[in-house]
Amino acid sequence: MARILITSALPYINGIKHLGNLVGSQLPSDTYARYMRARGHEVMYICATDEHGTPAEIAAAKAGKPVAEYCAEMHEVQAELARGFRLSFDFFGRSSSQRNHQLTQHLARRLGENGLIEIVTEKQVYSKADGRFLPDRYIEGTCPNCGYEGARGDQCEECTKQLDPTDLINPRSAISGSTDLEVRETKHLFLRQSRLRDRLDEWIDSKRDWPVLTTSIAKKWLHDGDGLQDRGITRDLDWGIPVQFDGAPWEGMEGKVFYVWFDAPIEYIGATAEWADANGLDDSAWERWWRTDKGADNVRYVQFMGKDNVPFHTLSFPATLMGSNEPWKLVDYIKSFNYLNYDGGQFSTSKGRGVFMDQALEILPSDYWRWWLLSHVPENSDSEFTWENFQASINKDLADVLGNFVSRVTKFCRSKFGEVVPEGGAYGAAELAVIDEISTRLAAYQAHMEAIEIRKASAELRAIWAAGNEYLQEAAPWAAFKTDPERAAAIIRFALNLIRLYAVLSEPFIPDASATILGAMKTEARDWPDDVAAAMNILTPGHEFTVPDVLFAKITDDARAEMEQRFAGKDS
Ligand code: 2FM
Ligand code: ZN
Repeated sequence: MARILITSALPYINGIKHLGNLVGSQLPSDTYARYMRARGHEVMYICATDEHGTPAEIAAAKAGKPVAEYCAEMHEVQAELARGFRLSFDFFGRSSSQRNHQLTQHLARRLGENGLIEIVTEKQVYSKADGRFLPDRYIEGTCPNCGYEGARGDQCEECTKQLDPTDLINPRSAISGSTDLEVRETKHLFLRQSRLRDRLDEWIDSKRDWPVLTTSIAKKWLHDGDGLQDRGITRDLDWGIPVQFDGAPWEGMEGKVFYVWFDAPIEYIGATAEWADANGLDDSAWERWWRTDKGADNVRYVQFMGKDNVPFHTLSFPATLMGSNEPWKLVDYIKSFNYLNYDGGQFSTSKGRGVFMDQALEILPSDYWRWWLLSHVPENSDSEFTWENFQASINKDLADVLGNFVSRVTKFCRSKFGEVVPEGGAYGAAELAVIDEISTRLAAYQAHMEAIEIRKASAELRAIWAAGNEYLQEAAPWAAFKTDPERAAAIIRFALNLIRLYAVLSEPFIPDASATILGAMKTEARDWPDDVAAAMNILTPGHEFTVPDVLFAKITDDARAEMEQRFAGKDS
């Protein structure tokens, strides 16, 4: 039995996430966590809301709420949606937690003590009307290059030119529209990542099993141009983790907070500590996951994230942990994802384009979404959600293949033998052939799950379901029953055992259907099979079951057309 620490990138607090966000980290990490638990490993699966930064402040202002209140409410909303999608976090924390405050301040102090922090004076735009410094992207004005009037201080979206806020003509605050801006000096803490370059380089080199996509991003940042840049880890904002320790200020840093990307990954640790607190455990309970001097040396740590998050997880966060010179657990494997597009374009929060997590659950049960998303997870390239494809997958894989198998077998049994596993007859060549096929496919399914190739694993699972349907079609118990009822009994007994096996194997993907099936089969036997042949004799003659309600309803053409229309976004 291994110990596996799994973290999912933390969703930003400012609003409900769309299905593209869900499939880019939380959902595949959940499937992996469920699978590893089913295999008997000890799993700690952690996520949290990422609550700091300007977007959180602005979203709160828009909602007309104090930011702390807004974040507390949105955390609950996101936690409820996570439950709705059956995300099986051991803990869903908050980056604004006291634990994260303590850990972030502690790590910054250690970095300072180790000579890795420097105070840098910078010039930044201050808005008097807003009473705050403005981050580059919250300054708007006319592009000096193309004349576009809505250019942002970091880039003109029209002509793509990279800009400095001072390049803009007629600059104004994107928050209030005020033009009463001035350039002021301000001090910030900079993390001297450049000093850690060699250690990071060596560490990345040691990761022979990482996908090239991941290591090449890290290597590019380490070596391109001037190499790894020192970076500011503080901001002039009100909301965030104050730059101080144990309540004592860091000289010259009064009123400043840590940059959201500095404290967010630290919350992976913070949330594990929150978990310990919530369960009345002491520090050793979370430290055995995170401190290599306290047991974490035998932990395998796997991170899940979208590809845009890779630099922060291959360089910045490891730099924070390494630079502390304390024995923190570093990531062993990074699983990163491409993007999911929506019906010929991108998901868009501002345009309301695409399906958001709350809407998805209003329309259909979570298993439908989980199955489509996981079987189309953008692992090796971007993938695209279309309603046609969604409808086809659900109707075929879930309704026609899995659902139909369960329904035909249980109903046939009820009508001929009653709601009990029939006795008589023996398994023969046809059954052995199915056992053979499923054994081979199960080995492949397991290998793909170990390698975190979720899409390939889903294809094997689908093929395992399909093998049952094909078997049933050929064995034709309805015909056998007329001439040889004992043979029909053996076929149905075998098929009922297949149903139970399918529920166990499908749990990481469609946990609700799995639970419904096991409930209907009235069995507590949920262990992962060591041996498919043995698994075909778990439900023995005389064992009672009930016919479950329809597991998956088909999506009609009308329903599809209606949903397509509803989620097309404001522009269309
Ligand atoms: O890109 C994002 O959605 C970030 N909120 C991810 C943070 S991951 C971790 F570092 F906290
Ligand atoms: Zn421009």
